[in-house]
Amino acid sequence: MADTTVPSSAPGEAPSPASRPSTEPEAPPAPADAQQAAQWRQQFETAAAEDVLRWALDRFHPRIALACSFQAEDMVILDMMARLRPGARVFYLDTGLLFAETYAMRDLVARRYDIRLERFSPELSVARQAVEHGPNLWARDPNRCCTLRKVEPLRRALSGLDAWVTGIRRDQTPQRRSAGVVEWDARFGLVKINPLARWTADDVWRYIRSRGVPYNPLHDQGFPSIGCIPCTAPVPEGGDARSGRWPGFEKTECGLHADQ
Ligand code: ADX
Ligand code: SF4
Repeated sequence: MADTTVPSSAPGEAPSPASRPSTEPEAPPAPADAQQAAQWRQQFETAAAEDVLRWALDRFHPRIALACSFQAEDMVILDMMARLRPGARVFYLDTGLLFAETYAMRDLVARRYDIRLERFSPELSVARQAVEHGPNLWARDPNRCCTLRKVEPLRRALSGLDAWVTGIRRDQTPQRRSAGVVEWDARFGLVKINPLARWTADDVWRYIRSRGVPYNPLHDQGFPSIGCIPCTAPVPEGGDARSGRWPGFEKTECGLHADQ
């Protein structure tokens, strides 16, 4: 006969889930750390994007959100997340300088998908920034402009989250080559999930076409990569997809994913 007097947890330890009264809500898992993320990085390196997202949503929702620029990659992830977890959290950084087509995508997404869409904007309006920092800061000091209009709002968006999801791919920029599918984001202090890290642009477009996912029409007008209006130019057919971002500057990153 089983010894029912044996305690299921040692003194000072939390009782095991089996011994908890059934009415008590289950405690959320503890936030992860760099060591734990390093294990996940190995574990998910070859996993399918959808499997990574399923795991991430099970593990972190509602303390996980997709950072969405409404570009092709983010539309793939958003489509998967909405299917896997209705009400999944998605946020966008509204610099106030996005294309009309991007805002139209935002409205379409809000209508079509069962997600919770949140907007984060800079402290300063574009007009106020011109007063305090001079006109067209992006043309003189784009790093400063990105810090004010993207990185600072991102910091606010990430506070209170244990994980964020992004659409970065390894073949986009030199700094992204080492991106993990799951990794520890030491700059912001939380887990970062890059489900498409191993995907190519062709993989992205295959998914979009096969599932009829809506996408920003600017992609069909010579814009493979789309950011703010003043810092995004069309790219000639066959040109480097990132060459249209901050043309005329050495800059390849805005500071969301790597130091500028
Ligand atoms: S950037 O650093 O050059 O601006 P990029 O345009 O390649 O980034 O987008 C890479 C990923 O960063 C996107 O897939 C998305 O996860 C996130 N991202 C970029 N811009 C935004 C934005 N305005 N709002 C939310 N997330 C964004
Ligand atoms: Fe400013 Fe250009 Fe960065 Fe947008 S992409 S925040 S306009 S520098």
